[in-house]
Amino acid sequence: MRVLVTGGAGYIGSHTVVQLAAAGHEPVVADSHVNSRASVLPRLEELTGTRIESHSFDLRDADKTSALLGEGGFDAVIHFAGLKAVGESSQIPLEYYDNNLGTTFALLRAMDRHGVCRLVFSSSATVYGETDTVPMPEELETRSTNPYGWTKVMQEQILRDVAATGAAQVALLRYFNPVGAHPSGRIGEDPQGVPNNLMPFISQVAVGRRERLQVFGDDYPTPDGTALRDYIHVEDLAAGHVAALQYLQDHPDVPVREWNLGTGHGTSVLEMVAAFEAGSGRAVPYDIVGRRAGDLAAVYADPSRAEAELGWRATRTIEQMCADTWRWQSANPQGYPA
Ligand code: NAD
Ligand code: UFG
Repeated sequence: MRVLVTGGAGYIGSHTVVQLAAAGHEPVVADSHVNSRASVLPRLEELTGTRIESHSFDLRDADKTSALLGEGGFDAVIHFAGLKAVGESSQIPLEYYDNNLGTTFALLRAMDRHGVCRLVFSSSATVYGETDTVPMPEELETRSTNPYGWTKVMQEQILRDVAATGAAQVALLRYFNPVGAHPSGRIGEDPQGVPNNLMPFISQVAVGRRERLQVFGDDYPTPDGTALRDYIHVEDLAAGHVAALQYLQDHPDVPVREWNLGTGHGTSVLEMVAAFEAGSGRAVPYDIVGRRAGDLAAVYADPSRAEAELGWRATRTIEQMCADTWRWQSANPQGYPA
């Protein structure tokens, strides 16, 4: 399949581009680079051994998005493009609604105009909102506590409504906590500014870019008091997209379906710190500080639907997640070249 990968220069998109090419598909990247570097692209060509067609523009530009899909030959779209920082979304909510919904509107209109039907969408476990239910099955009600999360809830609903008309066939993939990097160390997560997420923060401390980690809360009702998350290797996550694409092709009668992409296991913050120290051979000094507003004690997936229906399951261990993150971080201490 010739597949438009929006946000294909970003963290998860870039890893998925490599796996699409390995599976015999033809990925085409569209990215504005609002949160990524164009210097990832030669590395994608190096890893895939092929030329990767790429387009640099804001997908909210409906004319450009339509012109690209109008070039013809596209069999599917994987839609990663979006803004993703939970905290920032409360400060600039309009930017989040405009960007995340606007890209989706432009894409859906362009797909409709040019007869491209299949869409795989990057959703998030954040759509389960503040729930105590773990593991989390797909049947839980969706809601949110922050603008970023609401954009995902809203985009899911918009996609369900459009799928119900027969105009699109949609896979909603709800990611848990993506971490890790390609085993080559050539591509990985490269957050701009201070990382919001645990793994890139730990790896920047280990490599000497930051002094100490702050551990947000050690008074949760968990074995060591720190919060549990379902960390999933980005390579497993990327494979989930290839599996979802195949599912859509094999089940043209299914208009829309949601799948959790997680491991089903919770790992605590302190377990992650210890695993990273063991994997990198570096110390990760930390301070215990207060809880971060909005954080839940435990978030992990019930991944059984993806296993049963997509034939997919996460196989990589926490040790591999740490080793691969460290290979990327130590070889690229400042991330991608500007
Ligand atoms: P990322 O920021 O690395 O990648 C997103 C890419 O989209 C970036 O390259 C950015 O430049 C591009 N982009 C953003 N707005 C655009 C626009 N208007 N036009 C064109 N390009 C645009 O993020 P990621 O971690 O790879 O996440 C990919 C998707 O997965 C996002 O939709 C995110 O919300 C979702 N997701 C991520 C996580 C996570 O923890 N990383 C968890 C759940 C869901
Ligand atoms: N944490 C720290 N210190 C840090 C960063 C994080 O202790 O510097 C802790 C958090 O408190 C949490 C855990 O590490 O307990 C994981 O935090 P992340 O920020 O890495 O991940 P979250 O689970 O909070 O957020 C992720 C995604 C969001 C998504 C959310 C809900 O990044 O996009 O899951 O599913 F909305």
